[in-house]
Amino acid sequence: MFLDNENNTKKKSLDRCLTYWNPSRTNAWREMGIDIMIGKREGYYFWDLDGKKYMNLHLNGGTFNLGHRNPEMIETLKEAMEEFDIGNHHFGAVARGYLAEKLVRTATKGMQYAIFSSCGGEAVDVAIKSVRYATKRRKIVSLIKCYHGHTGLALGAGDDIFKEKFLSGPGDDSYIQVPMNDIEAMEKALKTEEVAGVIIETIPATYGFPLPAPGYLKAVKKLCEKYGSLYIADEVQTGLMRTGKLWGISHEGVDPDVIVTGKGLSGGIYPIAATIMTKEAGKWVEEFGRGHTGTFGGSELGCIVGGKVIDIVTRPSTVENVHFLAEYLKKGLDHVKEKYPDFFLSYTQRGIIFGLRFQTENGGIHAMKAMCDHGIWAIYARFDPQVVQFKPGLLCTKEYCDELLEKFEASIKDARKECLGV
Ligand SMILES: Cc1ncc(COP(=O)(O)O)c(C=O)c1O
Repeated sequence: MFLDNENNTKKKSLDRCLTYWNPSRTNAWREMGIDIMIGKREGYYFWDLDGKKYMNLHLNGGTFNLGHRNPEMIETLKEAMEEFDIGNHHFGAVARGYLAEKLVRTATKGMQYAIFSSCGGEAVDVAIKSVRYATKRRKIVSLIKCYHGHTGLALGAGDDIFKEKFLSGPGDDSYIQVPMNDIEAMEKALKTEEVAGVIIETIPATYGFPLPAPGYLKAVKKLCEKYGSLYIADEVQTGLMRTGKLWGISHEGVDPDVIVTGKGLSGGIYPIAATIMTKEAGKWVEEFGRGHTGTFGGSELGCIVGGKVIDIVTRPSTVENVHFLAEYLKKGLDHVKEKYPDFFLSYTQRGIIFGLRFQTENGGIHAMKAMCDHGIWAIYARFDPQVVQFKPGLLCTKEYCDELLEKFEASIKDARKECLGV
């Protein structure tokens, strides 16, 4: 066993990560006063190696939508391992065809192909390559303060802070960034008719889940149609029923040209991400199928896991639970907000995705730390540190919510005291 083993204590594991893995990343959280190394994990809880129990409200952006080590997912993977392995990425394959069909059939109108990757960033890279191939244009428009991953093209479309140190970013005119909800800025960029595609997180996670203004995304899609650009919906965080619909973009009445999904598609158990495309956006797969590939993207085990995830998240009982959670947690959060309105200022919500806004510049960081003290792990928004991302899982129970709301209220009381001195 790995976890219950004297060679793998927290101290020894920490030392190894500092020496052999990633010292600055290992230390970053500890320097912020957050000292977590995850050991046991089950359902929507995990335990630090020193034994402290946490409710998981981060879920790695939805990777653990169905909980940690969901028994149905484990069973699915075990069964798949009786027959499959990663497979050979050069050939068509039983499991790849199975998941591709499932994704296309459950996606928004007009989808035809699904191409698989090992992570969301790579799936965004595929999306960007696809719209460039389809339009024979190079430029990509994204939103200021967006996040689409750390891989090549996805990184290009994101914020400069992750690019500059690797000597890319400023000076690269392939990428244009415009403010969210500013349709004039979007039109100005698109009317050059040099833009291959617009990529937008339906609700930008790293920016703290600000909601798109009513009609904004629809207007962007219309502009794309007008100026010959394609629309990529990054649904890595907002997809797979977290908003109460399978794809967050469906709330906006938009049928995108490309949908990117990842994280939760893995069931938290086996990596898989996907780029779902219309026939037009996916032209390269008809003409130049070797245009993107990777040994592990579309591993057959991952495809079988991903298929099961789609089955679970679209089950009527899951959908009903998400709607229940959305209402129940809203009431609970309103109660805390009314109690501490000078600190807990507001929140955005779509389904069970919430961005909680707190008073003071780093209010989200203080709230995150206080929650940690009370046994809740929820991450602040990197591009808006007044906000905490609050993301419960699809299968949480009422009892879990009651425990959560009680701990949340106590956390906010403490964080308020620290920030406002009252
Ligand atoms: C909206 C969004 N897109 C893309 C990605 C990249 O996914 P991955 O970390 O699997 O590469 C992320 C990761 O957090 C994300 O939040």
